[in-house]
Amino acid sequence: MRPNILFVAAEAAPLAKTGGLGDVVSALSEALNSDGIHATVLMPGYTAALDHAEKLKPCGRLSGLPGGDAALWCGHMPDSDVEVILLRNDALYKRAGSPYLDADGNEFADNGLRFAALSHAAAQLASGATDIELPHVVHAHDWHAGLVPMLMREYGAEAKSIFTIHNLAFQGNYSLACSAEFGIPEHVRQDASVEYWGQLSFMKAALNYADRITTVSNSYAREILTPKFGSGFDGLLRQRQNDLVAVPNGIDTLTWDPTVDPLIARNYDQEDLRGKQVCKRDLQKTFGLPFDPFAPVMAMGSRLTTQKMADVAIEAMPVLLAAHPRLQIAILGCGDRDIEDGLRALATNHPDRVGLHIGYDEGRAHCLHAGADMLLHGSRFEPFGLTPIYSMRYGTVPIASRVGGLADTVVDAGSVEQPVVNATGFLFDGEAAADMIAAVERALAMFVQPQLWRALQREDMTADVGWEKSSQLYINLYRTLIAEPAKAMFQPVSRERTTRPVEQVSMKRA
Ligand code: ADP
Ligand code: GLC
Repeated sequence: MRPNILFVAAEAAPLAKTGGLGDVVSALSEALNSDGIHATVLMPGYTAALDHAEKLKPCGRLSGLPGGDAALWCGHMPDSDVEVILLRNDALYKRAGSPYLDADGNEFADNGLRFAALSHAAAQLASGATDIELPHVVHAHDWHAGLVPMLMREYGAEAKSIFTIHNLAFQGNYSLACSAEFGIPEHVRQDASVEYWGQLSFMKAALNYADRITTVSNSYAREILTPKFGSGFDGLLRQRQNDLVAVPNGIDTLTWDPTVDPLIARNYDQEDLRGKQVCKRDLQKTFGLPFDPFAPVMAMGSRLTTQKMADVAIEAMPVLLAAHPRLQIAILGCGDRDIEDGLRALATNHPDRVGLHIGYDEGRAHCLHAGADMLLHGSRFEPFGLTPIYSMRYGTVPIASRVGGLADTVVDAGSVEQPVVNATGFLFDGEAAADMIAAVERALAMFVQPQLWRALQREDMTADVGWEKSSQLYINLYRTLIAEPAKAMFQPVSRERTTRPVEQVSMKRA
């Protein structure tokens, strides 16, 4: 039997992407299809998705959804065999720009409604509301698809459900007064299974009702059971510990491959890095930095948020620039307005040393990973962290926080005096500028030792980072679930209130 898996997600690159979620949904579905699984992606029919999906044709209609009736359009992901189903309700999804934000960077006021509709659509599909083949497993990703497992039980779907936590900090919490509008069944509203400190929580619904919960690295799977990283859900997750599985992400090794990448100035491989010099020159030009083949170039490319310690980087960078007169910094990102402003001020104060591009730009991201010598990637928490792995593929050495997936994938190089064999980068603990500075100092000291640096680059460029192993882990999980008897209906694991989050993090997904 060929397992039929329905992915439900707000992003799937290149149709929609604001971060790693979009990368993983596409690369994993692609890997599963190559391994004989029929994985289809259900996502909103955003303008860009309708414009770029291939061979689109109408394939069904759904009624009774929050926000109104919707059409389903089936097609393929661009340049791929992976099938995609677009949920088409133009009033909800056909908007310019980001999947979540308006032109001023504010969240759309109706995001709860938009993703409640997506969840209802998935549950209806899984219960046979259309002619589309029934899935054996519905695999929901992040809070946008958080209502799916609960609604599947409500609609009587026989498929099993998996919910993957890509980021526990984004929870989809809305006023309980929206419950009726979002189509939360009356009997669910009566208990606390979707209630979170007086709010309605998509994340809590997912954690309570999914048959299995997965998350994207071994360390993060342990961390989220603690108050520090549990974002208020550590208690509930501890209750569900037996159903919580860590499946580390992989990366799309074709898209992020310096030997064939069409978006970089010159291709290269680990045997011959001359092309990387050309890419460095291109990076300096693109980011308005003076051409200097010997200057250490440090990149930072991410969402500009406190999760990514971009606020700490703003403190650390002037100190590093003062101590290292040749250091150049290239920054690509967008996010919190005050962080963007802080970086603009840094670039204004150091015109020949700091090159800044505020915005989302896939081409520049490739240019950055290929041309830089090192990548600074601080994180207060990091479920997986694809960006440092992308940089590693291009021989750009990561300097990262020792949290979550980064702690699992980056092997610290030690120091020039005591270098570590088989290392891939530099790790630091702590959230102070001094912690970050100390790690960059170690990297800069090693950068001027060509043999040690070359060894690091070689490890980075040959690390095993594809999807092969993890695709098999998901397949085993799907097969186990499919073989299990159905769970009793409406048995949420926890009807209790959850503990108050220790640290509130930004809910905006810029
Ligand atoms: P997260 O999902 O938390 O943002 P990841 O490192 O896992 O972190 O994934 C981030 C993804 O988003 C990578 O593909 C990265 O290249 C991309 N990205 C982030 N910011 C930008 C930007 N400003 N321009 C282009 N790509 C970006
Ligand atoms: C999230 C996390 C990131 C992870 C990505 C893909 O956005 O912040 O660490 O790599 O999802 O799983």
